[in-house]
Parts: sequence; C-alpha cells; structure tokens
Amino acid sequence: MSPDVLEKLVSLCKRRGFIFQSSEIYGGAGSVWDYGPLGVELKKNLKDRWWHAMVRARDDIEGLDAAILMHPRVWEASGHVAGFTDPLVDCKACKARFRADQVAQAQCPRKPSRHPGEFADCQLTEPRLFNLMFKTFMGPVEDSAAVVYLRPETAQGIYVNFLNVQQATRQKVPFGIAQIGKAFRNEITPGNFIFRTREFEQMEMQFFVDPGQPSGGRTDMEWFEYWKEQRLQWHLALGLERDRLQFHQHTERELAHYARAAFDVQFDFGGTLGFQEIEGVHHRGDFDLSQHQQFSGKRLEYLDQPANRRYVPFVIETSVGADRTLLAVLVNGYREEAVEGEEEGRTVLRILPSLAPIKAGVFPLVKKDGMPEFAEKLAADLRPHFPVFHDESGAIGRRYRRQDEVGTPFCLTVDGQTMTDGTVTVRDRDTLTQERVAADRVREYVTRRLSA
Ligand code: GAP
Repeated sequence: MSPDVLEKLVSLCKRRGFIFQSSEIYGGAGSVWDYGPLGVELKKNLKDRWWHAMVRARDDIEGLDAAILMHPRVWEASGHVAGFTDPLVDCKACKARFRADQVAQAQCPRKPSRHPGEFADCQLTEPRLFNLMFKTFMGPVEDSAAVVYLRPETAQGIYVNFLNVQQATRQKVPFGIAQIGKAFRNEITPGNFIFRTREFEQMEMQFFVDPGQPSGGRTDMEWFEYWKEQRLQWHLALGLERDRLQFHQHTERELAHYARAAFDVQFDFGGTLGFQEIEGVHHRGDFDLSQHQQFSGKRLEYLDQPANRRYVPFVIETSVGADRTLLAVLVNGYREEAVEGEEEGRTVLRILPSLAPIKAGVFPLVKKDGMPEFAEKLAADLRPHFPVFHDESGAIGRRYRRQDEVGTPFCLTVDGQTMTDGTVTVRDRDTLTQERVAADRVREYVTRRLSA
C-alpha cells in the first residue's frame, strides 16, 4: 500500500463514515479507531462470512463468546505474563520509543533520513522488556491481588471452556470451537491505520485432534495442512487477489517453543508494508490445555469412550484479525478509474457485493413526474431485505459516483420509462452496464446477484 493509497483510504473512510479516529475531538486516542455507519456494516458482513464458513456451515465446530476479563492465572498458564513482551528502547533526547528489534527499519523522528541511534543527538537506552497486556483492577481495591488483564487474544477463552463445550454439545474429537471478539495489546509501534492497533477484533478457531492416531480420517499434521488450505480458500473467496496472497512458514527463530508448525497467510498491502500477516495457522500441540490443566488443577482430558482412552488433544489454531482483513479488503478493492466519455474519473471500491455495506442505491432520475415517490416506495419495499440508500440530490452521475466510492454493487434508477412500463435500470458497479428489470422483480434480481 503506497502511503498515497493509505492516506486516500483514511480520508475516504472518514468522509464516508467507515472509520473515524477514536476520541477525535480530544485529539485522538493512540491507534484506536471507531467504526462508523458504513464501517460497522462492512465489518459485520466480514465477520458473518467467517462465522458462516467456520460455524454455521459445519457440524464439527461450535461457537463461543467468552468474556474479555478472565481469571489472572489464565495469563500465567498461557505464558503471557512472563513472555508476551517486546524489547523496548527509549530515546532520552527526543522521548520516542522503538521496538529494539525494529530500530534498523525505524526513522529517527528528528532526522528521518537516519535510523534511531544514528543521529548525533540520539541517546538510546538499553533494551528492556515491555509486557503488551493492558492491566486493570477487578473490584474496588487497586492492589496487586486485584489485577486483571484485558485479553490479548481470544484463544484462551476457548481453551478454558474446552470441556464445557465438549460435554454440552457431545462433540467427538476431532472438533473445533470458534469465537469472534475484541483483543487488546499495548503495542509499542502501532500504526498504518487499522493494520496494527491497540484494540482489535480476532476471529479464532481452535480445532482439537487426537495426538496419537488419526481422528476423522486425518493425522494431526494432515489436519494442519487441511486448515491451511481451507483458510487460504476463504481469503480467495473474499475476493483477495491470488497474487497478493502467500504463505509464510515460521522459521525456527519465529516458531513459539511449543509450536510444531506455523504458517502465516500474508497479504500484499503494497508500498512500504508489502506482504504482511493477516492470519496465523498454528499447530500448538497440547501446550495450552496441558498448561491450564497444570495451573488450574482440573483435568482437561478428552474421553474417547469407544476406545476407553483419555488424552489431552492437540490443537490446530486458525487466528485471523477482522480489522486487518478489512484493511486488506479495502486495499484490494480500491481503484481510481477513467470512465469512457466522462472527464472526471471515478473512485470505486471493488469489494465483494455480499460484503458491501449498501447493496443498492435507489434514485429518481429527476425530482418530478412521480419519480421521487416511486423511488421512495421502491427503497422502502427493499429495505427489510437488504441495506439500500435512497438519494435524490444532485446529478445522476454524481449519485452513481457516491455509491461507487463506498462499493455499492447496484444502482436502481427510476426514470420516465418506469412510469409507463414499471421497469427500472439496474447499473452494475463493476461493468457499468445497465439493464432494465421490472421493479417488482428487483428484490429477487439483487438477492440472486448478491449470493453469486
Ligand atoms: N491466538 C493466536 C494469536 O493471537 P497472532 O498472530 O498474535 O496470533 C492473530 O494474532 C491475528 O490477529 C493476526 O494475524 C492479525 O490479523 C491480528 N492482530 C494481531 N495483533 C494485531 C494488532 N495489534 N492490530 C490488529 N490486528 C492484530
């Protein structure tokens, strides 16, 4: 993503009500963002799509919505209290902070052509470890016994509920538990709009498999390969271009000590960001359940009744950021295009129609001869079925452009012919072709095109 495209997207998102800076009137809160009317719809559509693919369309995955605040021992067991840290260096001269392992890529705030530490005045401290978890207190007393954390990942809520869900649903291994929820990380170097933020949403699924022998016809490694492929296909079906997606295999150095294998799905954001992780697929072995078993003193074993075996399952995790994927969708779909026969080009978001926050713009060609009333009634008839936007102001070309910019796949125009034969024009965002469809068939037409 060139800085230029990122800047344009930030501006478009604010102007059209996708994403606003949090607490903007107070000067903004650091790297926290609010989703406006169109953004909340787009994000909801993205999350619904994931939920449908991962939970609704399968009989081997159950849904969960665990609390953000958890028992503090959870984070000791998970390793986050001791190890969820980044090395931090401060510059005593300019007060800027950097991740010690990223100094070589960072810019000195006072001399941007140099890296921190290279400018004569820089006074970098020795690296110190900084824990990324946000701390707060539970109850009225603010002492160390009351410390709780805002969860830095949703996964732990799944592990501690593993047996609750398994016993309530009577699922048999292999099966998964999925959830969507907020996570919080006090990132040292957040930035690039919603790419790296301090509050974000994750869509995570933990799939429990037999550690010793094939379950559901696959070994643990075969399940790992299966989920890698499933998740890549999901991103492709989202409309992300094939050559902008790749896998990155974690090297020995990157691999968590307990992980048996890990791949990131990376998306090419272009510009200085280039290929970056949007999802992680991890083989976590039995680390998480074993740790919780040890720290809680409660058995977290699965009972395979037919075989009369008890074991702690292995976990294959898929973990994708909702906000980061949404940014990938915006970058992937953003175009500035020339339009034949028109002086001004257009900005268009070529996003999957089912993701679009508004499905159809409904316009009267002119504000007379019964067209506004017809359009208003058409919009009211369609509104219970999908989001529509009724717009009568400005030239029709400008109204089309306004919808192109927010990715609306169809524009329905009521014109003179409508008043005689009851048909409206349906303009396609991507091909710019227009066809006439009977107004009372438009709902069916749009619904069919949305599901394609
Ligand atoms: N439970 C595993 C886990 O949390 P992760 O790689 O740290 O793994 C998974 O995070 C995904 O969450 C990332 O691929 C990314 O999409 C998203 N994510 C992580 N940190 C983020 C941040 N600070 N801002 C936005 N998204 C983030």
